[in-house]
Amino acid sequence: MTQTPYKIAVLVSGNGSNLQALIDAIKAGVLSVAIVGVISNNANAYALTRAQQAGITSIAFAQDSNDKPLSRQAFERKALAQLKKWQPNLLVLAGFMRILTPAFMTGLHELNLPAINLHPSLLPQYKGRNTHQRVLMAGDLAHGCSVHMLTEDLDAGKVLTQARLTVSPNDDVHSLQQRVHTLEHQLLPWTVWLLAKGLLTQKTPLPLPWCLHFDV
Ligand code: GRF
Repeated sequence: MTQTPYKIAVLVSGNGSNLQALIDAIKAGVLSVAIVGVISNNANAYALTRAQQAGITSIAFAQDSNDKPLSRQAFERKALAQLKKWQPNLLVLAGFMRILTPAFMTGLHELNLPAINLHPSLLPQYKGRNTHQRVLMAGDLAHGCSVHMLTEDLDAGKVLTQARLTVSPNDDVHSLQQRVHTLEHQLLPWTVWLLAKGLLTQKTPLPLPWCLHFDV
């Protein structure tokens, strides 16, 4: 008997190395989900090339028919209409660099579509941008990344999983960015795997987030 695959859609804006980590995990047979499509708000995102190379449907909603940049609202309307067609079980924000509006969240709710976001800090610390710089300025010894439920409030939804590293005295923004990226490439596929298997849900009453401690 063949099982219906757990389907995910991915929102991206840039390089897409985390999308690549998902693609690679699927190809390696360690993540049994299907990526039904990739949506970008940036027509030049390398993530779109990665999707095409993997034979995954990818769409950029970036310009209108007159080549003018799409408004945030227009992007969100188009993305929601596309998600309605694809009917994924989960929406994954992997390097999606734009804040979504409450209307988008309502749209996801109407589609009954849960969404997760990957963020380069140990939430609830350092919501928003420039996380590596802020960790260094504060002299923190621990840093890492989190996968959390997407909600209306920026980087504030329930934390599902985290991976952490120890900041070294030699670290700078660039090295931390690289080291956290390495963590993200392990954390995101693992979290999607947990969700697809039903081992983790947004209602799972975990006392602490599932946490990996890597030394990278
Ligand atoms: C990641 O660091 C992610 O945490 C942040 O944006 C970056 C995206 O990287 N939200 P990539 O596009 O997946 O390479």
